[in-house]
Amino acid sequence: MANTILVGAQWGDEGKGKIIDFLTEKADVVVRSQGGNNAGHTVIVGGTKYVLHLIPSGILRPGKTCVIGNGVVIDPVAVAGEIDGLEKQGIAVTHDNLIISDCAHLVLPYHRAIDEQRELKKGKNKIGTTKRGIGPAYGDKAARVGLRMRDLCQPELFSQKLADRIEENNALLQTFGAPPLVFEEVRDACLVAGERLTPFIENTVVYLHNCLKQGRELLFEGAQGTFLDIDHGTYPYVTSSNTTAGGACTGTGVPPHRMDNVIGVMKAYTTRVGEGPFPTENAEISDMLHGMGREFGATTGRARRCGWFDAVATRYAGMVNGIDELAVTNLDGLDTLASIKICTHYTLDGKSVDVPPTDLAQLTQCVPVYEEVPGWQTPTENARKWKELPPNAQSYLERLAELTDARLSIVSVGPNREQTIVL
Ligand code: IMP
Ligand code: MG
Repeated sequence: MANTILVGAQWGDEGKGKIIDFLTEKADVVVRSQGGNNAGHTVIVGGTKYVLHLIPSGILRPGKTCVIGNGVVIDPVAVAGEIDGLEKQGIAVTHDNLIISDCAHLVLPYHRAIDEQRELKKGKNKIGTTKRGIGPAYGDKAARVGLRMRDLCQPELFSQKLADRIEENNALLQTFGAPPLVFEEVRDACLVAGERLTPFIENTVVYLHNCLKQGRELLFEGAQGTFLDIDHGTYPYVTSSNTTAGGACTGTGVPPHRMDNVIGVMKAYTTRVGEGPFPTENAEISDMLHGMGREFGATTGRARRCGWFDAVATRYAGMVNGIDELAVTNLDGLDTLASIKICTHYTLDGKSVDVPPTDLAQLTQCVPVYEEVPGWQTPTENARKWKELPPNAQSYLERLAELTDARLSIVSVGPNREQTIVL
């Protein structure tokens, strides 16, 4: 298995949580490197549904260690709640299976409040964020005014720093006409969470390097997807971290030459939640998937926007991430269709385009060009081997891999752990 980076090749929600859970069987340590509780993974094991936001889904496998790296932004109250929730579901969470970076930045209530106010102010131009405070938290990190997990372990120092930050942010909130935060309330909630979290906090860079020395295999769990990357995505309709493969290095302190393999996860179609360009968006496929009860967000419950598979996007994702292998999920979502469209390229002002324009206005004007292939109109949810898939489904998957220019290695035909085909 070696050291593997798993990334989303589309706009997030590709089903990474399920693939991570599956791959964790072979890994020793599962590591998050970016994002925060804007992410949401739904994993179903033995009929029980687990929804995770910050803690890697590897936590569901006994004997595995999960690491939340320095590049993640952590809402301390949220992560403490997630630990408690898991324990209620019978999953023990201790320092043996969860380690949190002392350098990870905190998401605090003023980040959430400002996220919300900025979105309100933008009106119809809003980004459609998860309102979890992710953008303002990374903003503070870059501006060097953030508070980190290690501060939480020092209540006195934390309180002083927090008081300064609340003063500044209350002034900002006032300009939005929003109510100020009460320092004591924020401090008390954080310190309670801090006490709960202190046993998990350490220098995860050193921990991970010790794992490497011992030959333990690392699996890097990407959150969100390539086109939500702050640098490579459809800016400004992106999240605020590097969701692409490079983020796994900076967000954990594990150097590039120790990474062996990049797996790109993509749906057999495309979805996106929140605003921003989406060339292959299609109302019919949206209605069909929503009608099946599929494609509602794990974090916000929002209905996701749906569209046909976009090979222009996934090919670009292949480049940016260096995708070696592909995991295609949600194949079963297309089971009922008589014919399926695949976007092979776009046209822009009459010219053929095979990489997504970085200019947002141009991307919005791109017209997808489709090839149409026959569907299989057979349930695939019970397939466990490649040869159990209908021939048209096999051809469809082979075509997606060919267009993306990577090797197909995993196909998922349902949310359960067993509904996974390995090639
Ligand atoms: P933020 O990350 O909450 O700032 O949201 C920025 C954009 O990223 C919005 O379009 C969100 O819907 C999207 N986003 C953030 N996290 C996820 C995710 O885990 N899956 C899918 N979309 C996400
Ligand atoms: Mg998700």
